[in-house]
Amino acid sequence: MMPERNDDFIFEVKGIKKYFPMDDYKFAKSKIRYLHAVDDVSFNIKRGEIFGIIGESGSGKSTIGRCLLGLHKIDSGKIYFNGNEISGLTKAQMKEYRPHMQMIFQNPLASFNPKMTIGKTFYELARVYKMDKNEADKRIKEQLKVIRLNEDVLNRLPKELSGGQLQRLAIARALMLKPEFLLADEPVSALDVSVQAQILNLMADLRDDLGQTILFISHDLTVVRHTCDTVAVVYLGVIVEMGSAEELYSNVMHPYTKALISAKPKEHPLQETNRILLEGDIPNAIDIGEGCRFANRCSKFRKGLCSERTPKLKKVGENHWVACHYLNE
Ligand SMILES: Nc1ncnc2c1ncn2[C@@H]1O[C@H](COP(=O)(O)OP(=O)(O)OP(=O)(O)O)[C@@H](O)[C@H]1O
Ligand SMILES: [Mg+2]
Repeated sequence: MMPERNDDFIFEVKGIKKYFPMDDYKFAKSKIRYLHAVDDVSFNIKRGEIFGIIGESGSGKSTIGRCLLGLHKIDSGKIYFNGNEISGLTKAQMKEYRPHMQMIFQNPLASFNPKMTIGKTFYELARVYKMDKNEADKRIKEQLKVIRLNEDVLNRLPKELSGGQLQRLAIARALMLKPEFLLADEPVSALDVSVQAQILNLMADLRDDLGQTILFISHDLTVVRHTCDTVAVVYLGVIVEMGSAEELYSNVMHPYTKALISAKPKEHPLQETNRILLEGDIPNAIDIGEGCRFANRCSKFRKGLCSERTPKLKKVGENHWVACHYLNE
């Protein structure tokens, strides 16, 4: 059972599915195979929290994010934004919601026009948003303050700035219109470890000082540990475990999450780890059937239930859900 509808939620996501057709048979539609990128996923994002989605490459993280922003049409399920159903809206109808939802990506350099100074990029954006000169000046200065960069960056070209500075500027640009919701898709994966912490701290400050709601996508569970309030762990298109970050880390239950946590690199070469090594690759998500998707890599695998029935998320604590048939063993 998922939590009830609640005004505290900015997003309510109910049983969404996104299948990508793998073939193009115009006259034999029944033969088309589908890749189940997102398969019956439900979660709620509270206003003012950082919600993390974690999983290996190909597990469906970005697809979930794109569905929320209406960039993918979902095949079934429902998505509510501030209580309004937005799944099923046309592109034109989504326009009303667009300014309230913004996105930043993994590679900040690629998201800036290499020939434009940072200032030109920002003033150009202010023009698109129909701000007059005074308003634009004020807003851009405000934004630089938020990301703690000096005004001289406005005269620079993207290639003259570091990855960390550019990612801050990408965040500032995304927040120009004060959107209610920010999707950050692997925002620190391309950055040096020393810079990652600065960006993570900045996101925490945005939440604490401005009440910014952020969906934070990452393949690295350790990166989100101190940043996210709630974490959903996805595996092959489904959520296997979800809960408050505190609960999830102190009382981890799903064998997949356990493996992810134990797979973190050692902080010191002599440090002992009790790594659970994940055997085998993530299986193919094409025309996947019933049964637990983690079954072929799971240490708890049992014949029968695990291969025959897909485990549903069960509430196991105040703010903790797990999808596993053999939780207590
Ligand atoms: N537009 C598309 N058409 C067909 N298949 C797609 C499309 N977008 C994603 N997929 C497939 O859906 C699955 C999930 O992809 P997605 O990009 O959501 O994963 P991810 O968790 O974000 O991975 P990564 O960590 O590598 O970014 C993958 O198997 C991917 O190949
Ligand atoms: Mg991705």
